Amino acid sequence: MTEKKSNAMWGGRFAAGPDAIMEAINASIDFDKRLASQDIAGSRAHALMLSKQGIITDTDAEAIREGLLTVLSEIEAGEFTFSTALEDIHMNVEARLKEIIGDAAGRLHTARSRNDQVATDFKLWTRDQFDAAISDVEALIRALIAQAEEGADWVMPGFTHLQTAQPVTWGHHMMAYVEMLGRDLSRFKDARARMNESPLGSAALAGTGFPIDRHMTAEALGFDRPTANSLDAVADRDFALEFLSCASICAMHLSRFAEELVIWSSAQFRFVTLSDRFSTGSSIMPQKKNPDAAELIRAKIGRIFGANVALMTVMKGLPLAYSKDMQEDKEQVFDAADNLMLALAAMTGMVSDMTANIDNLRAAAASGFSTATDLADWLVREAGLPFRDAHHVTGALVAMAEKKGCDLPDLTLEDMNSVHEAITEGVYDVLTVENSVASRTSYGGTAPAQVRAQIKRWKEVLG
Ligand code: ARG
Repeated sequence: MTEKKSNAMWGGRFAAGPDAIMEAINASIDFDKRLASQDIAGSRAHALMLSKQGIITDTDAEAIREGLLTVLSEIEAGEFTFSTALEDIHMNVEARLKEIIGDAAGRLHTARSRNDQVATDFKLWTRDQFDAAISDVEALIRALIAQAEEGADWVMPGFTHLQTAQPVTWGHHMMAYVEMLGRDLSRFKDARARMNESPLGSAALAGTGFPIDRHMTAEALGFDRPTANSLDAVADRDFALEFLSCASICAMHLSRFAEELVIWSSAQFRFVTLSDRFSTGSSIMPQKKNPDAAELIRAKIGRIFGANVALMTVMKGLPLAYSKDMQEDKEQVFDAADNLMLALAAMTGMVSDMTANIDNLRAAAASGFSTATDLADWLVREAGLPFRDAHHVTGALVAMAEKKGCDLPDLTLEDMNSVHEAITEGVYDVLTVENSVASRTSYGGTAPAQVRAQIKRWKEVLG
């Protein structure tokens, strides 16, 4: 007992002896137990392949495969006792298998190593997260399209520098996020296709002399093919990094939209009303309704991008092939995936439930001289001015309106002519926000007709 106590020279602050500390730093079971079902699926495929190839007997393979199902049901029922001494999910499962089926369990690890095993398990788990991200992003896209459809011609201010720039349509703004999320979708799909190769059978690092069939296990586990280089296969965590980088960009998009929702739902903007389901009150200020879900979504990029940086940093400088450093991969991806899915679900709920305050949007769109560009364009089109001159004339009119404390459409024709004599009554047609947005019919522009065309295209894409 005494020699297990902390080392007299350096262990003053450690209650436990060095072996216990080693166990604590080495064990991954506390988190990699999340890979249980993938571990068992991988082992079942491996056992079947070993027997098909005549490497173990059919009887042993059957006992292993059945026993693994028992282990799985114990884990799923919460009846399994995970042991830190057994380090990780792979050894916990195998040890329990031995208790259940006896010595045949020892044949399961023929022609494989924990290195290809963990790579396989973690790939299977991450692949599920790619699939979840793909369907959750799609759900959010659908919610945005529903908003866009309803408000294809609702007018709101478009901003640059968060200063009123030009009127845009609600539908156009929603569809901007559809484009961003559409790129996320294609990134997740692209990375998912690239990662779908099976590391199983790469063994420790060099492959194996046993006559295994890697194509068979790859197919059984839904991989497109086996990996082509055993050193790379056990050393590769690109799939996790690609998930984290796709997730980071996606979370960044969510964060930008969340920020807009925080601004839009403020008393100063009142562009949207968020539903009570996604807001909270204040414990002290009774009037408050806080956009907590949006704020938390805005924050998620912090931990998701943090995970990306963390794993990238873990992997840099690692010599081939496997190093224990790589055990630090899982918690980052687990946390990032959990939080990405949560953020996507919360955003989808918020978007589906939010109400646009159409009158406030329109009023805000009409203020801040938002149709100044339309006026300048009119001068180019109708009065033949070069754009630079038209810009100058419009600037003078904006200054005049500002001085008078009115908006551009409130200036009289006399006012206008005092700045430029070529201006006629016709100019008032382009100064309304409705006409402004309707005129922006260039491909991808804010005109309701363009927005509807993009909605139609997206609906076809999603099927
Ligand atoms: N728990 C380990 C991990 O997550 C499994 C692989 C261990 N391999 C080894 N050679 N120690 O990376």
